[in-house]
Amino acid sequence: MAKPTYEELENKIRILEQKANHAGLLEKELKSLENRFSTVEKQLRQRQRMDSLGTLAQGVAHDFNNTLSGIMAYLNILSLTDDNFSPSQKTYIRNIVNSVKRGAATVKQFQNLSSLAVSPKENIDICSVAEEVFFLLEKTTDKLIEKKLDIEKGRVFVCADINEIHQVFMNLATNAVHAIEEKGLKKGDYIRLSVNPETRTGSEYLLETGYHELLFEDTGSGMSEEVLEKAFDPLFTTKTGKGQGLGLAMVKDIITKRHEGRIKVDSTPGRGTVFHILLPKANNVRNPEESRHTIQGGNETILVVDDDISVRESMKRALEDFGYRVILAGDGEEGLDLFKENFNTVNIVLLDMIMPKMPGKELFRQMLTIDPDVKVIISSGHDENHFEDPVIKSAKKYLKKPFEITVLEKTIRQVLDYKGCPA
Ligand SMILES: Nc1ncnc2c1ncn2[C@@H]1O[C@H](COP(=O)(O)OP(=O)(O)OP(=O)(O)O)[C@@H](O)[C@H]1O
Ligand SMILES: [Mg+2]
Repeated sequence: MAKPTYEELENKIRILEQKANHAGLLEKELKSLENRFSTVEKQLRQRQRMDSLGTLAQGVAHDFNNTLSGIMAYLNILSLTDDNFSPSQKTYIRNIVNSVKRGAATVKQFQNLSSLAVSPKENIDICSVAEEVFFLLEKTTDKLIEKKLDIEKGRVFVCADINEIHQVFMNLATNAVHAIEEKGLKKGDYIRLSVNPETRTGSEYLLETGYHELLFEDTGSGMSEEVLEKAFDPLFTTKTGKGQGLGLAMVKDIITKRHEGRIKVDSTPGRGTVFHILLPKANNVRNPEESRHTIQGGNETILVVDDDISVRESMKRALEDFGYRVILAGDGEEGLDLFKENFNTVNIVLLDMIMPKMPGKELFRQMLTIDPDVKVIISSGHDENHFEDPVIKSAKKYLKKPFEITVLEKTIRQVLDYKGCPA
């Protein structure tokens, strides 16, 4: 065999080098594909975990709502007999009721996360929300810090989600207390919430007539420029080991995204901080007296079907106090039996949706075949739009748990008294 020429050898080497390069590239590509695959696999596993957590959260939310409904119902019974209580005891009851409502709102946020629903905004009196936060502050922080709530009741109404505004005030107040403690508490330190009476159009805050400007101030440590720049960033904190850096990020999100408001902060190190919060004014302010409902009561028979014993028992207790006759069923099957047995006397059915044995929807369907005019009020921990179903849509009313007993009584009376549209 003839010896290869120098050029032939050089050619072969070049080809081999090209192949080696190619193999190297392929190897790199394979590595990157492997990496991408493992990232996607991790994401998928995470996603699956999130999905099952979501399902679990829905279950927990449902059970938790029932627990809150029971507490709410008993609290309502207490507040209906509040002649026996001292003024401070009445305040405690009112505050527990509000805490339960907020617990329910947290559950709702859980549920909203999976359904992407948005909770409704209403006209709220800033003073009432702030009063609760200031009351809590007074009870839990050093008396030396003066808490000044300079907003009169019934004066400043904004269109907002009451629970979210409560969260905003709680976060700002907690930060204010921390800042005062960090500086070193001394006489004259205060936390103050007021409303800016001036319309400063043309100023840097662009205050529009459609907005209220709230001022939340403290005489704490204040913030340096570097801190101020990052204060609203998620996970930014100077409280090593104690803070998560989520408070102000949430405040900003609630004000700017959820309420289309604005937030700005002025701070001087060693002197204190002022948060300027712009929130949309409420347009038609309802007189709180108007919405107050006087209990009428009645003597009709109500079948309550709910798998949660505390919900059943508390409703029975409250509704009987209003004069009604109450029959209780703990699941759909028992509900159906009792409905058949008491067919001639049951005037209205209060029906839970998610129950063991026979779910509320199936019970409702069967009751409709027995009596097409059956009056059903659905009480559920889920929003009405969770159940897109013609059977459920034929309920007379829908109550989202937990509800106040006065609301239940008002709804029952409305349904019982409704005589249909005049021809
Ligand atoms: N009123 C204030 N006075 C001085 N510094 C403040 C004030 N409010 C916030 N800060 C600074 O901004 C940072 C971020 O605040 P943020 O409320 O977001 O988180 P955090 O309070 O550290 O933790 P978390 O609120 O999650 O418990 C704080 O760590 C603090 O340095
Ligand atoms: Mg905070």
